[in-house]
Amino acid sequence: MQHILTEDGFQPEAAVHFGNKFLVANGYLGVRGTLEEYTKEELAAINLAGLYDQVPDKWREPVNAPNPFFTFIRVAQQLVSVKTQVPVAHSQSLDLYTAIHQRRSEFAVKNNHITIEAKRTASAAEVHTLLLDYQVTVTEKTTLEIVTGIDGDIWDINGPHLQDYQMESGQILQLTAATQESGQQVSVGEKVFSETPHEEYFTVDQKHLLRHLSFKLDAGETVKISKLIKIYHCGEQQNPQRACRESLVTATAKDIQQAWEAHKKVWQARWALTDVEIAGDEAADFALRYSLYQLQIIAPHHCSGLSIPARGLSGQTYKGAVFWDTEMFMMPFFLHHDSELVRNLLQYRIDSLTEARKKAASYGYRGAFFAWESQEGGFDATSDYNVVDVFTKRPQRTYFKDKQIHISGDIVYALKQYFQYTGDDQLLLAGGLELALEAARFYLSYLYYKPEKDHYELIDVLGPDEYHERVYNNAYTSKIAQFTMTTALQLTEELRSRHPEVVTELLEKLTFSEDLAALKIMAPKIFVPKPAASTGLIEQFDGYFKLEDTLPKILKQRLLDPKEYWGGAYGVASDTQVIKQADVIMLQYLFSNEYTQEELTKNWQYYEPRTEHGSSLSACIYGLTACLIGKEEWAYDYFMKTAEVDLTGESKSFAGDLYIGGTHPAANGGAWMVAVLGFCGLKITKNGIQSQPRLPQKWRQVSFKICYQGQTYQINCSHEGSQMTII
Ligand code: BGC
Repeated sequence: MQHILTEDGFQPEAAVHFGNKFLVANGYLGVRGTLEEYTKEELAAINLAGLYDQVPDKWREPVNAPNPFFTFIRVAQQLVSVKTQVPVAHSQSLDLYTAIHQRRSEFAVKNNHITIEAKRTASAAEVHTLLLDYQVTVTEKTTLEIVTGIDGDIWDINGPHLQDYQMESGQILQLTAATQESGQQVSVGEKVFSETPHEEYFTVDQKHLLRHLSFKLDAGETVKISKLIKIYHCGEQQNPQRACRESLVTATAKDIQQAWEAHKKVWQARWALTDVEIAGDEAADFALRYSLYQLQIIAPHHCSGLSIPARGLSGQTYKGAVFWDTEMFMMPFFLHHDSELVRNLLQYRIDSLTEARKKAASYGYRGAFFAWESQEGGFDATSDYNVVDVFTKRPQRTYFKDKQIHISGDIVYALKQYFQYTGDDQLLLAGGLELALEAARFYLSYLYYKPEKDHYELIDVLGPDEYHERVYNNAYTSKIAQFTMTTALQLTEELRSRHPEVVTELLEKLTFSEDLAALKIMAPKIFVPKPAASTGLIEQFDGYFKLEDTLPKILKQRLLDPKEYWGGAYGVASDTQVIKQADVIMLQYLFSNEYTQEELTKNWQYYEPRTEHGSSLSACIYGLTACLIGKEEWAYDYFMKTAEVDLTGESKSFAGDLYIGGTHPAANGGAWMVAVLGFCGLKITKNGIQSQPRLPQKWRQVSFKICYQGQTYQINCSHEGSQMTII
């Protein structure tokens, strides 16, 4: 099965894209796929999960660590690097099965042919450990200097975040610095081993701590260095500087070998469970495997209380924040393979309850209104002005933070999925039920009673389609609110039957008895826009059908600047029916059993041409819904679009001068959803696991495993049906 991603030939213009595409990560940190000699100019970065900092008047974002992979060479005193000369041959590759990044560059310097080969990873077995093997071969007798150390001149979008650099050199190079906002320490250390005799000295300047290793080489000789790197930060260590040093003091070359092996073992076990094979379509097979790679490198397997940001660990874009992307798009894959991880991800939201309550209260509501862009502890990092107008350069007021109230319901939706899949009461008892009740209470307080209609409405909201702000009765939002309220009631009753005291105590603690009664009365009376009898169409929000009916390609012609924002007050899409992403179709996907095939088909056909897919979350939902209506060939293009998003790099990378690119884990999760839940028709019902495949024509077979209720199932789907075995 193809599992190596390779790019041959030196492509300097692709450095930023490759930084994402060749990312290695381990849930604790992400190492952008840049070359060893690259610096902040090429957006080299080590992105730390869950450690945030704010520089006054700038956006709060995750911290990038000093770069300990920084390495370059001099041959006969001359710098040999892709930054100074074009290599005669060059390749970059990534083994998806082992999460090991490799590069090979050949240079011709007069008659000397110099080859650099480097291999690196972020250990999956011990997340503070990073490994680099770097070797150089020459064809002529010469002197070689390998300069390797820690580059503290960090790429930041809204930085600089680290200050008070402390540098220590010697057998261990160590750079420790502290964040601006709260003085949290980040410590990076490294130790280098080489069997080839050499001389060594160190240089230190304000931001670089470098080791110079000099070798005398014969013609044809290869020299290799192995580097053990450790990174610790305050997020989970009281004294990162000490922890970092102690982890390196006694380390030997043998430890490096063992670290490589331990790392590979973890990956072997992961793929043994998670790999999906698509027979008959190599491109789809590889793109899906790549998507699963991207998902697995960013999952916080090592701890509880962390979640996954919308751009994974590929950098600081989107403020390193956690969006609904995690619950709605990434969780399904994890749930079918590693429910403990999902439990941890949900725990992050439970731990955010205090902030969510504060947010609701700040707008005059009760209950829990979760952060739209969630940082540590659930802090909402969304800016009131999330977009800069390209013409006036003025920040534009956007209402993502204030009005995207579906976020609380999305989290409850995921919680219920987890509960249904695992039957695990423990998470509900340890805060899950409280979360559901508080989310329901939030909607209770947001609802607006219309006496003439004797129903409740959600007015002034922002649905998944971000181009239309402050709308009334967004079908998706109203439905998820109603779902949250009924789910809170159901979970309360279910848990009460097994743990009556705990539930009574919780309801008392939350003084919830009146609200419980209110939920019962109000939930059924929420107005959720339904398919119209005449057309079968659901109106996305009040007045949507009265807006100008046009298409994304027409709007593109109206742009005065290609980087114009399409939504907000004056966007080209705002007064039209063109939408950014799946909205009604998202609703129909989640609650598909409440709609007829005809209603699903009609809405898909109506909304699909009007959707710009300006968000990478959109394609997979159109793909999944196309599967539901038996249109596999429509679904296929959307599957490929979502599965290849980080391979092709075809997504917006810059808004004005602001870098907004990175990886797209929601789309990666969406790829698994379309393949397995869509094409293979996998469903967990009261009667157990079911799979009714509807494969695209060229797919002969799809094979995958899932873990369900303590068993592992091997499932093979073909055009003839599916086979399931317990293994
Ligand atoms: C989308 C949101 C999404 C966010 C992060 C935005 O462009 O509209 O739905 O959560 O990106 O991926």
